[in-house]
Amino acid sequence: MIDIRKSLLQEINLKHLIARDIKLYIKRDDLLHSEISGNKWRKLKYNVELCLVKKKNGLLTFGGAYSNHLLATAAACNLFGLKSIGIVRGEELNENSNSTLFRCQELGMELVFVSRAEYQLKNEKEYQDEILANNPSFQLVPEGGANYYGVIGCQEIMKEVPNEVDHIFVSQGTATTSCGVLLSLKEKQKLHVVPALKGFDSIGEVNGLLSRTGIDKGLTDSLIKQIVVHDGCHFGGYGKYTNELLTFIQDFFQETKLKLDPIYTGKTMFGMLKELEKDCYNGQSILFIHTGGLQGVEGIEKKSGIKLFED
Ligand SMILES: Cc1ncc(COP(=O)(O)O)c(C=O)c1O
Repeated sequence: MIDIRKSLLQEINLKHLIARDIKLYIKRDDLLHSEISGNKWRKLKYNVELCLVKKKNGLLTFGGAYSNHLLATAAACNLFGLKSIGIVRGEELNENSNSTLFRCQELGMELVFVSRAEYQLKNEKEYQDEILANNPSFQLVPEGGANYYGVIGCQEIMKEVPNEVDHIFVSQGTATTSCGVLLSLKEKQKLHVVPALKGFDSIGEVNGLLSRTGIDKGLTDSLIKQIVVHDGCHFGGYGKYTNELLTFIQDFFQETKLKLDPIYTGKTMFGMLKELEKDCYNGQSILFIHTGGLQGVEGIEKKSGIKLFED
């Protein structure tokens, strides 16, 4: 089972930050599980629980061919004796498919490949109703675990952080993790979000998700004032990366032995260290939430021909 104590709070000593009396802590959610890692478990925990309570047979969810969420759902269902169905965008499983899809299948996930046009309908109520009518014993989880249960699972992250931190940095994909963290912030804390997507409407997405959790507009508006968006660190957009980013991840590993991925956490750490160059962070305490994502790194290393984590 998944033991939350595995997610350590690690202090990282970077010389240039120590010189300015900046403390940097990493919330190591990446250590939670090899496949249900990082924010994946946080977002799935209550979805799994609901599925068990409702005595459903399993979870049905959506994802792209490299989706961390798809793999985590397959692994979590496997672990809890549930079935899983993955609706996959625009791919077919064949000998050229990536290891994420093969691993999902190995874990017992039924993969249903749909066209990109059909996949666009994933959040439409009518489309979801139709899918559930065909699979009545399944609990639907939106792409990326972006629902109420995902948000309340992510709310637990900050409860495990005893230190008083001034600034929290986290990656954004669907904004579920950042919404959960936001809900558990203390008044003076700032939440810095780094979207992995180009043109991502961070505040709009947070607004949308929070309104679906039933939180009133006044509270949502005041919470949103605690968010700082860093939207210039997407390196070309979702799934894109440059040699500059890969070199940064390599150098960061050499200095700290901490592994980052080029899709989410590498971009966020890059953006955070750039931001921390400002004098206003002198003497402040910083928390970086490591949301995992390392399962896809091997494929990126193969594609780029660059080894990221050589000792
Ligand atoms: C490794 C990793 N970090 C961060 C995120 C972004 O989290 P969220 O979609 O909750 O904003 C994701 C996507 O779920 C992810 O796979």
